[in-house]
Amino acid sequence: MLLLNPKAMMIIMAENTGPELPKNAHPSILQVIEQRKNILQRLSNIKHKIGIYSAKGGVGKTTVSVNLAYTLKEMGLRVGLLDADVDCPNVTMFLGLEGTFPDEYPLKPVDKDGLKVLSTAMFVDDKNKPIIWRGPMIGKMVREFLDNSDWGALDYLIIDLPPGTSDAPLSIIQLLDLDGFVLVTTPQHIASVNTIRSGLMAKRLGVALLGVVETMSGDSPKGAAEVASAIGCDIIGTIKASSKFGDLSDRGLVPVKEDAEIKEEFISIAKKITG
Ligand SMILES: Nc1ncnc2c1ncn2[C@@H]1O[C@H](COP(=O)(O)OP(=O)(O)O)[C@@H](O)[C@H]1O
Ligand SMILES: [Mg+2]
Repeated sequence: MLLLNPKAMMIIMAENTGPELPKNAHPSILQVIEQRKNILQRLSNIKHKIGIYSAKGGVGKTTVSVNLAYTLKEMGLRVGLLDADVDCPNVTMFLGLEGTFPDEYPLKPVDKDGLKVLSTAMFVDDKNKPIIWRGPMIGKMVREFLDNSDWGALDYLIIDLPPGTSDAPLSIIQLLDLDGFVLVTTPQHIASVNTIRSGLMAKRLGVALLGVVETMSGDSPKGAAEVASAIGCDIIGTIKASSKFGDLSDRGLVPVKEDAEIKEEFISIAKKITG
């Protein structure tokens, strides 16, 4: 029997999305397909699942996830925010929700001004202890987390994806059957090179690319222009470099709630996504 690594498994699954299962499938593939079916059933009341992604860390994925989700909620939509960065789950800190956890089972997201939030950080008691898990453990944790959570009906679920192009983002992208993803990059060439890798990986899995956002930007998009021309997508946002982001997020304050200019930038991105 052929043994496959998780990455190969996910690619096989991506390329076999029809009702027919791959012939001679390894039992572990069948098990993942079954779990995926259960999770998709649980998430069936969610109209759009959008991943925020880059292979590179520190480019602003969490910043974009939090502020975009908050903006969509302010536009009157029913929105959930899933922090799926298992290694570095920062959403609760950015939203001032540290120390909160769902107190109902199945897990009900925590409420932040009407935004529904679930983070793997809510299940780790000590943030000073790093989470050191191998890929399959991360996949298992996220699967069980999703299988036991109840989001209710949502218009949008925004998912803050982990960096990299290996097990963690791969298994989450596949499990959730994302409707689309947004790439995040910065003006630096190295960020674009790695963001292009992530874009090509997610496209290979058949997920629609909604566009690229540049954060920490100068006067005009530089990194996003590189990504857009390499992958063939639109630049849907250019967010100026501002120390306000760090100052506010580090204190658990949401930049779009506190600053009119930042709010405008995110309304423009949100409109492109909903449009
Ligand atoms: N437009 C911006 N200008 C300045 N700093 C920013 C901007 N966007 C994000 N940051 C800061 O950059 C750091 C990394 O952002 P973060 O969202 O945590 O990245 P990632 O989730 O990709 O690791 C954070 O301190 C954040 O506040
Ligand atoms: Mg992050």
